[in-house]
Amino acid sequence: MRSIELQAAGGTSRITLGLPVTSVPNLIPELCQGRRITVITDGEVYALHGDRFPECNAVKIGEGEKGKTLETVHRVYEAFLSLDLDRSSFIVGIGGGVVCDIAGFAASTYLRGLPFGLVPTTLLAQVDAGVGGKNGVNFHGYKNLIGTFSQPQFVLCDFRFLKTLPMAEVRNGLAEVIKHALIGDRDLLSRLETERERILSLREDIIEEIVYASLEAKVGIVSRDEKEGGERRKLNFGHTFGHAIEKTMGLSHGESVSIGMVMAAKLSMAMGLLAVHDVRRIQDMIEGYGLPTATALDKESVIDALGKDKKREDEDIHFVLLDGIGAARIERLKLQELVEVFDDLCEHRRAVG
Ligand code: GLY
Repeated sequence: MRSIELQAAGGTSRITLGLPVTSVPNLIPELCQGRRITVITDGEVYALHGDRFPECNAVKIGEGEKGKTLETVHRVYEAFLSLDLDRSSFIVGIGGGVVCDIAGFAASTYLRGLPFGLVPTTLLAQVDAGVGGKNGVNFHGYKNLIGTFSQPQFVLCDFRFLKTLPMAEVRNGLAEVIKHALIGDRDLLSRLETERERILSLREDIIEEIVYASLEAKVGIVSRDEKEGGERRKLNFGHTFGHAIEKTMGLSHGESVSIGMVMAAKLSMAMGLLAVHDVRRIQDMIEGYGLPTATALDKESVIDALGKDKKREDEDIHFVLLDGIGAARIERLKLQELVEVFDDLCEHRRAVG
């Protein structure tokens, strides 16, 4: 078991890794300081693990990204109202990224903010959505357009939950682990290369090590720039193209970000920041984890989605490039510059080098 503390203006978050959460009696009630607990979860997580939740009311939301909306938050507020929640209440989100986002958003806005904690049950939520205090919902096709920065008081990562996930969902999380390695941790990258079989077999000891390293990279950045005025933008590596691909091509988040990371790596190479063998190394790594490095993209719709990226400022995008492996830098690029190189960035790998 290990823990990391994230200290930021939006609160202090203690992230604990490797505790068998639902087997330790009273763990969650004690972390909630004896307050009245309301759990937010989804039907699937409740069916698999609900019998081991702490004794409390559970509000269930629908599964999947399509439920990350204000309508879902509205229904959660109604449930809070009918449960008569007050300032002595504590909200606990138990589930994947959508549950973590909805629980954090509803908790941080209801009654002007209730304390909350998260138990992320997917690898993606353990290494990304559940940590860092961004709580948001999608709006009119824009991802995470509405939200808050507010830190969960605790995050409990229990790797036993990962055993009930489909492998495609595990890969979604691994794409974010690869991202953290590429932007800030060369040792993690080497470990991802040498320990691939153990990682893919979800051995808890190695999963704990890669999640810990991944979170150390993320927590360091978030504690220096919680509200994404600068350095936190590095965590969007691969996500500018990735979100546009996810929105238009119907690929999963991990698949889209993987393609987006390769496109960003190729752009870094074109700008003289990354060597061709580094791009190949990144492609090998991503392929080794069963994730795509390229796909036939509908250029017009991807470019259209890029133009609607909420992080765009006028005609500029804060684009994250790699400055060598394990280091990232942010460049303000014109949308038109990305349009001009788009075709080269989409080429399948035999065209590199
Ligand atoms: N998922 C990117 C961030 O937390 O900033």
